[in-house]
Amino acid sequence: MTTQHRLQERIEARIRENLLGLVDSKQWNIYRGRFVNAVQARAEELLGVPCLTTNAGTSAIELALRAHGIGPGDDVVIPSSTFVATAQAVLLTGARPVLCDVDDATFNPEPEHVAAVLTPGTKAVLFVHTFGNPSGAGRVAAFCAERGLLMLEDAAQALGGRLGGRPIGSLGDGAAFSFNTSKPVSCGDGGMFAAADPEVYERAKAIRHAGLREVPDGRFLAHEIGGKSLMTEFQAAVLEPQLDVFEELARVRVDTALLLREQLPKVSPHARLQHIDDDAVSAWQRVAITLDTPARAEQALVEHPWLERFYAAALVDEPVVARHAVYTEEIAHRCRDQWGRLVGVTLWPFQDFAELVGRTADLKDGHV
Ligand SMILES: Cc1ncc(COP(=O)(O)O)c(C=O)c1O
Repeated sequence: MTTQHRLQERIEARIRENLLGLVDSKQWNIYRGRFVNAVQARAEELLGVPCLTTNAGTSAIELALRAHGIGPGDDVVIPSSTFVATAQAVLLTGARPVLCDVDDATFNPEPEHVAAVLTPGTKAVLFVHTFGNPSGAGRVAAFCAERGLLMLEDAAQALGGRLGGRPIGSLGDGAAFSFNTSKPVSCGDGGMFAAADPEVYERAKAIRHAGLREVPDGRFLAHEIGGKSLMTEFQAAVLEPQLDVFEELARVRVDTALLLREQLPKVSPHARLQHIDDDAVSAWQRVAITLDTPARAEQALVEHPWLERFYAAALVDEPVVARHAVYTEEIAHRCRDQWGRLVGVTLWPFQDFAELVGRTADLKDGHV
């Protein structure tokens, strides 16, 4: 039995115990119940920043934007390499996503990529830690600070990553995490917002629940527009045991990622691993390589069926992005080219990692 199996068994036993106990307690329908509070407290311990659990990562990004007052008339810079939900969260606020290029090695933006797309309406940069990799986030945060722009983190894929010793989620003016199906810890769907600034935190908290804030007479009244994006006790009861052993889970994930990073370059002499800066620690949601041409990536996918593309289309080929986002033809061209060359594997949270690494054994003699 591997360390991962042992951990998994412990987690699953605790999930069973939590869920059955929750039903018996008749407390499963309350807001801010025992498990939601426990998840929030543990996340705060891991990040060192006040956290708010949410129903999904997308709504956590939306909270991060809205809590800073971003909305119609504002532009938000996002990388052209991300999942469409990053763009959707911006669009949901009424703001405009402006796409920037990303570094071909880290898959993340650098200050020059952001500088090239600034508009008079730019309010924020939404930095995506691609596949858990924070490389470049410090440089972009410094750039944003110089220019008076907000630096928000789309850390959907990145719980557990660090930059210069600091946890991802504490690097800017607000961060959003996802606990959806493919993330390092998962409850099917779920998310979290984190922000150090008490006013931003309180505003996000209100927007998360019908705009409600407590007034001096003890009532909760809605002072601003707010939806509903709370995490339920059921979601939190599934997350709590995973966060409890988070450091152990992360160690197994790192070991697996390092083994995969030994294997994946064997796909082709033209394959290059995602670059992680020396001061960066990835959360390893995925292990990714780029080939030198889309044709070679296509061939690799055919020869090694366990390899995957991560998104169904390049971001600029998502119809909603094509309709509503701002980007140049050159950016669209590089976005398609990079998407076409990018392949790898996802470390699904409850997948058998030893089996995943074992699949790559077919690489020994196969070169594209
Ligand atoms: C980079 C990125 N941003 C945002 C999201 C949205 O998270 P959720 O699915 O929890 O809403 C995801 C989810 O896959 C993602 O990968």
